[in-house]
Amino acid sequence: MISYKELGLVNTKEMFAKAVKGGYAIPAYNFNNLEQLQAIIQACVATKSPVILQVSRGARDYANINLLRNMAKGASEYAKELGYEIPITLHLDHGDSFETCKECIDNGFSSVMIDGSHLPYDENIALTRKVVEYAHAHDVTVEGELGVLAGIEDDVVAEESTYTQPEEVVDFVSKTNVDSLAISIGTSHGANKFKPEQCTRNEDGILIPPPLRFDILAEIEKQLPGFPIVLHGSSSVPQEYVKMINENGGALKDSVGIPEEQLRQASKSAVCKINIDSDGRLAMTAAIRKVLHDKPGEFDPRKYIGPARDELKKMYMHKNENVLGSAGNA
Ligand code: G3H
Ligand code: 13P
Ligand code: ZN
Repeated sequence: MISYKELGLVNTKEMFAKAVKGGYAIPAYNFNNLEQLQAIIQACVATKSPVILQVSRGARDYANINLLRNMAKGASEYAKELGYEIPITLHLDHGDSFETCKECIDNGFSSVMIDGSHLPYDENIALTRKVVEYAHAHDVTVEGELGVLAGIEDDVVAEESTYTQPEEVVDFVSKTNVDSLAISIGTSHGANKFKPEQCTRNEDGILIPPPLRFDILAEIEKQLPGFPIVLHGSSSVPQEYVKMINENGGALKDSVGIPEEQLRQASKSAVCKINIDSDGRLAMTAAIRKVLHDKPGEFDPRKYIGPARDELKKMYMHKNENVLGSAGNA
């Protein structure tokens, strides 16, 4: 059993309390490799922002849980070396079973998500409560989910989203004792969040998605005053990266994300954690494609992954400063 406390990490309790009070959201960035982690830590230290490092099942399969844990430990030492101590959480993204959550808690994670959102309501409660009991015994915080997001997550494709029903949230939170709740108000996983027919087009032909359901969010806040709310599927799919990818040999079609102004608005509410993965993938791919296109003779990975890391850092700094409002709150 490895406790996250030995690794220099924190759970989300204090982070979320401050974020709800301060009207900003903590960035939850997914990482799978060294350069993504370096970019996240560099950006969050430079902007003095707390951060949640998210690990998906795909990340564990790709990178190995022991390596990821030690990378998170290294991240906390690296942040100090860069000159500013920021709160860092190591979080399991979309935990699919009690066993997965337990394995992560036993391996130094300070926060886990148990995603029972696809289960019948009562089964979601029973599973979530079981995870909470184990996690809280180890001072680890737990995120549950009510409502289903459309899109692709961990190879599971959901065609349609089911919005969270505000009348269920009090019952769910009191029966499970979760520390935060992920909700569905129109965000969606992946870089193709909406079908073109669900969107309108602006004068440049860019797809504009349907607005988030702020009415549902307001009703949830009314039911659970001050309770930490989480938004998944919150990449904005910057069109400059889509363009850069397509101009350098890529073929991304109909990519559309959540407009930044809407995420800014959500961050000012009880939404205190915003999950972003796809935008990091796009920034990295765009930068790598550009270098390889411009310099076909290049074969040193540091020469194309290095610029990708710099692009990622720039993007994360922008999110912390201008979208989530977490900058200056470490
Ligand atoms: O919500 C899903 C995340 O974007 C993780 O995706 O399983 O491909 O790492 P992944
Ligand atoms: P995006 O695909 O919008 O980046 O969402 C990531 C996410 O929700 C991870 O849990
Ligand atoms: Zn998610």
